[in-house]
Amino acid sequence: MVKICCIGAGYVGGPTMAVIALKCPSIEVAVVDISVPRITAWNSDQLPIYEPGLEEVVNQCRGKNLFQHTNVEKHVSEADIIFVSVNTPTKTRGLGAGKAADLTYWESAARMIADVSRSNKIVVEKSTVPRELLFRTFLTLTEFSLEGETPDGQKAVQALKDVYAHWVPEGRIITTNLWSAELSKLAANAFLAQRISSVNAMSALCEATGADVSQVSHAIGKDTRIGPRFLNSSVGFGGSCFQKDILNLVYICECNGLTEVANYWKQVIKVNDYQKNRFVNRVVSSMFNTVSGKKIAVLGFAFKKDTGDTRETPAIDVCKGLLGDKARLSIYDPQVTEDQIQRELSMNKYDWDHPIHLQPMSPATVKQVSVVWDAYEATKDAHGICIVTEWEEFKTLDFQRIFDNMQKPAFVFDGRNVVNVKKLREIGFIVYSIGKPL
Ligand code: NAD
Ligand code: UGA
Repeated sequence: MVKICCIGAGYVGGPTMAVIALKCPSIEVAVVDISVPRITAWNSDQLPIYEPGLEEVVNQCRGKNLFQHTNVEKHVSEADIIFVSVNTPTKTRGLGAGKAADLTYWESAARMIADVSRSNKIVVEKSTVPRELLFRTFLTLTEFSLEGETPDGQKAVQALKDVYAHWVPEGRIITTNLWSAELSKLAANAFLAQRISSVNAMSALCEATGADVSQVSHAIGKDTRIGPRFLNSSVGFGGSCFQKDILNLVYICECNGLTEVANYWKQVIKVNDYQKNRFVNRVVSSMFNTVSGKKIAVLGFAFKKDTGDTRETPAIDVCKGLLGDKARLSIYDPQVTEDQIQRELSMNKYDWDHPIHLQPMSPATVKQVSVVWDAYEATKDAHGICIVTEWEEFKTLDFQRIFDNMQKPAFVFDGRNVVNVKKLREIGFIVYSIGKPL
């Protein structure tokens, strides 16, 4: 039986290994992590990660060919294929701070692999790690071949292909050299993020001119060269990947002396920051230039629907912006706990991936934030509502009931264009939707 061990039981390692276990009954999959609470959660009924369908997949495989452990060394030494999916946060200090990846966790994993391996291993890199460092570290620490060109390398490529071939058609498995692989990953996310920044930039122009960004997206999406997907204007993109990958791309450009190219990609992030600020400014300016002491309901905190993941969520910027203006926030998200929200609001930029640097929230901020488990509770007596995540349930809320229980005038700021503007205006709400006529 082929044995796979994945180092890092996070958002990438956990679900990826669950799918491999499901699709490949002949492979034994061990997911290992230094975090005891994470592994305990993977072995419980309350998985540490929410994703539609994940629980079913884990329940089907756990204890059969999918195992989660804290004994990292043992399972690495026994494995034929090792996936590395440890966190590689953005550096907060030193050379490349704010851009380059901090490879502390990754290096310790690489060293451990080298220390405990007594047989040939195939190491599959899932963490976002610069190619040169990967190359140098592994060459220094081990005798493994890195490129696919050598006979051993070819065998390794084939072994990995054999895993994916259980459910991915052969023609869709692409092999490239290392630089192409790295840039393909970064470029894919950069292009997607750029698409959102482009449509968000258009949303500002739509508001200024009276156009409707949904109509513009619909119209341009009909051109098959552009296509209709990923053209939803929003309060801004979030998630652990887009910003981090673009920063990485910018860093690589700068290291290669390509200032103009670096600036081009930086602009995607600048427009995203602009969009988040624009949203907060709109809330404050619409509510008579002050939200001080007013209750604002924040609906949604996850960075997108169908996840409990809050990393780099635009909700953080929106909440911090409103708290800066002394608003009282009542936050509701169907999948995010109070602890997680408090933690996100207390962290500095880039600290989310560096769990050690956590700072407690200032007592004043704690008093300004309450987290509730129901949209009706969140909006009760509120002066305004900010919709930050596009959860399906927000589309079917009883807005008449919500309106009746709110302070007047009652404002809705829809950061995801999920509500029916006409209907809400008929009820009596003052509605602001991104990229739509006021
Ligand atoms: P995460 O923070 O959710 O999980 C990382 C886990 O690694 C944590 O649980 C941590 O405790 C564990 N860990 C850290 N050092 C360890 C060590 N030495 N030994 C064992 N466990 C260790 O992160 P994530 O979202 O799963 O992302 C992981 C990596 O994957 C990041 O580098 C991210 O940029 C990258 N990523 C890759 C892809 C891809 O498609 N290849 C997609 C998204 C993210
Ligand atoms: C992204 C990529 O889409 C995946 O292909 C990639 O594998 C993944 O990163 C990764 O590198 O791991 P993810 O960050 O999970 O996936 O989520 P997306 O669906 O891409 O959404 C990112 C952000 O853009 C979210 O905040 C989302 O709400 C926002 N978004 C998305 C918009 O504002 N408008 C859109 O039209 C689409």
